[in-house]
Amino acid sequence: MIEVIDLHKSLNGVQVLKGINFKVEKGEILALMGKSGHGKSVLLKHIVGILKPDRGNILIDGEDIGTSRGTALERLRSKLGYLFQGGALFDSINVFENVAFPLREKTSLPKEKIREKVLQELEQVGLPGVENKYPAELSGGMKKRVALARCLCTDPEIMLFDEPTTGLDTVTARSINNLIKETHDRIKFTGVMITHDINQVLSIVQKVAVLDAGTIEFTGTPQEIQATTDPIVRQFFNNNA
Ligand SMILES: Nc1ncnc2c1ncn2[C@@H]1O[C@H](COP(=O)(O)OP(=O)(O)O)[C@@H](O)[C@H]1O
Ligand SMILES: [Mg+2]
Repeated sequence: MIEVIDLHKSLNGVQVLKGINFKVEKGEILALMGKSGHGKSVLLKHIVGILKPDRGNILIDGEDIGTSRGTALERLRSKLGYLFQGGALFDSINVFENVAFPLREKTSLPKEKIREKVLQELEQVGLPGVENKYPAELSGGMKKRVALARCLCTDPEIMLFDEPTTGLDTVTARSINNLIKETHDRIKFTGVMITHDINQVLSIVQKVAVLDAGTIEFTGTPQEIQATTDPIVRQFFNNNA
C-alpha cells in the first residue's frame, strides 16, 4: 500500500508540492494525470525515496520512506520498480546487461539464474531473442518494453511508471498500456502510473488522481472521473479526444 500524507516540497525556492494526499491500496493502480511541469515526476520521486519531503509522509506498507535511511531505505526500495520518464536504458551495454543490471545490483543470484530470469522477462514483454541487441538498434516501443522488463525482473510489489508511453505513436502506446495491464493481471502489483492516455488507461486502472499546481485537484474511480464536471479534469478529456 502507498499512502501520501500532506506532502510539501520546494525546489529552487519554488513550492512544487503544496500538500498532497492520496492512498493506493494493495493491488490497485492509480493513474496520475496533470499538465506538464505541475509536479508529477517530483511526486513520484518522493515515493521512490529519491527526493525527501520538506513536510509530510510517504508510507510504503505503513513505513515512511521519506524518513528512512541506510538499510531501512534499501529494504523499502527493494519493493519498488521504477520506470523513469524517458525509459533511460544504458546505451553502451546490450539488452541482456540492461535487464540484468538490477539483479546484479540488488540480489546475489548466481549467473545461470540471472540469465534465466532475464530471458524470461524479455519473453514476458514480447521481445524474445533481442538480448544481444544494443538500445540504438531498437524502436521506441521496444526500448520501453526492455525498460519494463528491467523493472519487472526483481519482482517488485510496487511499480511506478513515469509516462511509459510519451513519445510513442497511439498504436505502440496502446500495446505498452496493454502490456502493463497484462502484467498487472498476472502479478497484481500496486502501482502509480503518470500518463496522458486517459482514454486508454481508464480500463486498466482502479483510481485516477489529477495533480494541478501542486495539489490534488481530483481523485476517484474511472467512472467518477468520466462523470465529473470539474473544468480542470474535463480538459484532459478534451485534449485527448
Ligand atoms: N531537481 C529539481 N530541481 C529544481 N527544480 C525541479 C527539479 N525537478 C523538478 N523541478 C521543477 O519542479 C516542477 C515540477 O516538475 P516535474 O515534477 O518534473 O513536472 P511534471 O508534472 O511535468 O512531471 C517544475 O517547475 C520543474 O522545473
Ligand atoms: Mg514528468
